[in-house]
Parts: sequence; C-alpha cells; structure tokens
Amino acid sequence: MIKPIYLDYNATTPHDPEVIEAMRPFLETEFGNPSSPHWYGIKPKQAVETARGQVAGILNCDPTEVFFTSGGTESNNHAIRGVAKRFKEKGNHIITSNFEHPAVLEVFSYLEGEGFETTYLPVSEDGLVDPAAVDRAIRPTTVLITVMHANNEVGTVQPIAEISRIAREHGIAMHTDAAQSVGKIPIDVKQLGVDLLSLAGHKVYAPKGIGALYVRTPLVPEKFCFGADQEMGWRAGTENVLEIVGLGKACEIAQRDMEKNMARMKFLRDRLHEGLLGRLFDIRLNGHHQLRLPNTLNISFKDLEANRILEEIGLEVAASAGAACHSDSLEISHVLIAMGIPLEWAKGTLRFSVGRMTTEAEIDKAIRVIADAVNKLKALC
Ligand SMILES: Cc1ncc(COP(=O)(O)O)c(C=O)c1O
Repeated sequence: MIKPIYLDYNATTPHDPEVIEAMRPFLETEFGNPSSPHWYGIKPKQAVETARGQVAGILNCDPTEVFFTSGGTESNNHAIRGVAKRFKEKGNHIITSNFEHPAVLEVFSYLEGEGFETTYLPVSEDGLVDPAAVDRAIRPTTVLITVMHANNEVGTVQPIAEISRIAREHGIAMHTDAAQSVGKIPIDVKQLGVDLLSLAGHKVYAPKGIGALYVRTPLVPEKFCFGADQEMGWRAGTENVLEIVGLGKACEIAQRDMEKNMARMKFLRDRLHEGLLGRLFDIRLNGHHQLRLPNTLNISFKDLEANRILEEIGLEVAASAGAACHSDSLEISHVLIAMGIPLEWAKGTLRFSVGRMTTEAEIDKAIRVIADAVNKLKALC
C-alpha cells in the first residue's frame, strides 16, 4: 500500500531514528526506577538528568529549571494554573490572546470558574498580538500573561520578547506555549525573557505523551500533582524514563541541526506554495508572511469546503482542515475567526506542514494532487 504524503507535521511528527536508538535500552533492558538507590536505578537516573540537560540546552536555561510533564497540554495547565493560584493573594486577573491552543483557553475557562478575571487580546489579520494592547490590558491585579510563541494553525510567531519586557516592567509572570516553535526555530528563554515556557515531545520527533516546562528560578508555581517527591517535589509520579530519554535526544538533534533544517523546511514550504500559486488562482496565504514558522503553510481556497478538498486528496496527501462543514453547520477554527478571515475564504482553509522526512518529489506530487482536486471541485461549483 502506498501511504499518503504526510504534510501534517504540526499535528505530530514521526520518531527520529536517532531518538529510537537512544530510547531502545530503556525499552529493552534498563527498566529500573530512577528513584531506586540500588544498581538498577543508576542508569535511569543518569539518563533522566542527561535528558534534562539536553532540554535545557535547546532552551538556554539551567537544567534545574526544566520539569518533565506528559506533554504540551500538561505543561500549559501546570504553568497557568500554578502561577494564577500561587499569586491569587496578589491579584486575580490573567491575560491571554483569543488565538491560543485549547490547552490554554480551557485553563482560562476553568480559572474563570474559580473567580479569576480574564482578558483575551485580539490578533491582527495576520495573527499578531500587539504588545501595546498587552500594556493597555494590564491592571494592578494582573498576575499572569500567556501568549503562544508560534500558532499551530497559521504558524505566526509572536513578539514574545517585547511582551515579556512589558510583563517584567509590571512585575507580572510571563508564560509562552512554545509547543510548535521548539525545534523549528531557535529559542533562548533569556532572550525571550519569559518566566515559563511549555514544550511538547511529539512535535520534535520524540514520542507522544512527554513534554517539559521551563520555570525560571526563583519562581515556584503552586504544586500541581501531589505524591512522592519526583521532579524536585513539583510533579509527583515515577518518571517516564523511556520518553524523557527520547525527548532529550530529540532536543539535542533539533539544536544540532537547526540551521540546516530551517533552511530545508522553508525551501520545501515555499516550493509547495509557489507550485500551488502557479497552478491555481483564488488562493490566499493565512498568517504573517515573514514572521512565520518555516514549515507551515496555511492557505484558503475561495468558495470551496476544506473537508471536500481533504476527501479528494486524502488517499494521496494528509493535511489538516481549518474548517469543518457539516450538512447543516459550518465550524470555522477559532484561529481563523480571531484573524477575521472572511467566510468565503475561511471555509476552504487547509494547513500543510512539512517536516524532516518530507522530500522534494513528495512536494511536487502534492502540488499536482491538490491543484487537480481544487480544479475539479471548482468546476462543480
Ligand atoms: C500550540 C500547542 N500547544 C499545546 C499543544 C498540546 O500539546 P500535547 O499534544 O503534547 O498535549 C499543541 C498540540 O497540538 C499545540 O500545537
């Protein structure tokens, strides 16, 4: 069976072969508990600490500032809830944008139920949060600002350093959800100026179900998970050694190959975009044209329905829809709504995201398949 060309790397990534090799001993033989003081605990313990150093390496922080979690969702939950609750005596106002991942927006809804006041900042048509709007939204009671680093749907990269500077001037904790940007573009928590940063293993060619949270010393969010004293007492539960090792190796590889991979992603993404522009009219690029992840291409096909295009191309190309049309309803993604993309464009939106395993030949085939499908559906309109 010939598999469809995978152009959905923002959804998840395959395991890097080097990641698999690094994890193998912990799947096959090194089963010990890293908390065990005897012989079996030694290698797992060392492996967890090596991985912590590798994650710290890609973020440019101290290893003691890295906590392992089960992924991007848990990291965001820990960060937002943990900071809001830690500082609730100081104030009950928290700020985010209306274009975040549900792993942020749903935590905000939960905290509203707990008595917190929330502000959701708008974004521009290309998906940017205006730092001046952040400044205006700050109240004496604001205790947390969280704005995602790169958007998962359109790839727009936010001016996090500028927003962090404003947060710091007001003594407010600053978190960023970097699940999509870690491994794709250089990250330096010191340059970004953030206090907390979330990352997800399965976006960087490591397994699903592992992630990390950077917490700048001396910030201590409220404890999230109660039990034994793993992860410096902050996240109880026996460590997921196998996947922690995978995440560490994945971060080391991403850091090592960053320049080369960024250039290649951009080349493949732009080849796909130009190929489609050359064969189709009535298409529009969503997201900021320059301040964008190098692998992400979000485009709308005017007057078409995204799920109809996916049905047409599905045996040959795997991508994601930005809208879902059902017999009696149309669901446009909250990201496209936040950007104010007109309905006739938004409903025909697809996200293509390339990755390390994508080849030029695949891109050229994908251009033909997508263009033929769009032309066929246009002819039926
Ligand atoms: C921006 C962003 N944040 C958070 C998450 C959640 O990460 P995880 O799937 O590891 O829970 C994702 C995953 O799609 C994401 O894209």
